[in-house]
Amino acid sequence: MSASNQFHTAAASPWTSEDAWIGSRRPILEAHALPAAVYANQDFYDLESERVFGTSWVCIGVADEMRPEGQVMVRDIAGLSIIVTMDTQGGLRGFANSCRHRGTRLIESDCTIGRTIRCPYHRWGYDRDGNLISTPQFADAGVDDFDPADFGLHPVRVEQWECLLFATLDHDAPSVDEWFGDLGRRLSGYRLESWRTHDSTMLDIRANWKLITENFQEYYHLPWIHPELAKVSRVVDHYRYQGYGMYCGQTTTPITNDERGDWAAMPPAEGLDHSDMASGRFIALFPNVMLSVLPNHVFVIRLEPLGPGITREHCTWLLPRDPRTSLARTSP
Ligand code: FES
Ligand SMILES: [Fe+2]
Repeated sequence: MSASNQFHTAAASPWTSEDAWIGSRRPILEAHALPAAVYANQDFYDLESERVFGTSWVCIGVADEMRPEGQVMVRDIAGLSIIVTMDTQGGLRGFANSCRHRGTRLIESDCTIGRTIRCPYHRWGYDRDGNLISTPQFADAGVDDFDPADFGLHPVRVEQWECLLFATLDHDAPSVDEWFGDLGRRLSGYRLESWRTHDSTMLDIRANWKLITENFQEYYHLPWIHPELAKVSRVVDHYRYQGYGMYCGQTTTPITNDERGDWAAMPPAEGLDHSDMASGRFIALFPNVMLSVLPNHVFVIRLEPLGPGITREHCTWLLPRDPRTSLARTSP
């Protein structure tokens, strides 16, 4: 992972000194938490945006948010606006959301376009592969020595992993499969790429994004904060679910049916092995996803930092595509 990408140059900072992290890098039984300022300091937030979000595979949504008929997704990563399209071959494509003429933002928010992305300023047009295909009045004005092939949209890497979409600004980053190491193999029995969105919502949380994902990664608080959940996902049944890769996982095995039996009301996905059928997998994907995988539903929380003290949570519930239930939708 490089410390900068083609859109940003990392600045020197006291936060990049090893001394700032000595306490948190001790062996687990001696280590302490991160310095308090990293949850509130604007300078740290800005540097983190460059060094973490500017160089990682950042989750930008759930796969079935993208539809083939001209859908465009608009996302911010590390302060850069990007657009995601499906190209003419049905593949995912990512681009900087910036016109090659004068840098105007091309698209403000998620929408459906026809075949052409049209700049609002002077109406340059790009196809969904990012090629510049129209430049109004250039021919009449006698502009020559201009090759539209030199002015396609700047590409950004976008990949699907399981049921999620990721983008990175780092041209040198490994593939998203490599990024998550052995996790794809561990989750392969669920065939998550075929699961479909059932419902979604959005929440703005007055907390730093790291506090939210750190809270997800500990179950110490379950008996007092989530007594109902602690009956199904019992503290004593938690285990590490960890291998190499940019994730931190725990599993509850077995999940216990409580007296209400609500969580087991929906049928499980077909073809799960004994372990997947009996377990809940709770996995923090670095940096910005909290993924809960149960036999009959998946809960995704995608974190979008908006500032040092505020984070937008994009929450999505997915269900297996299963002939025994009509609950799973084929499009959101
Ligand atoms: S800035 Fe886009 S066409 Fe001029
Ligand atoms: Fe909690």
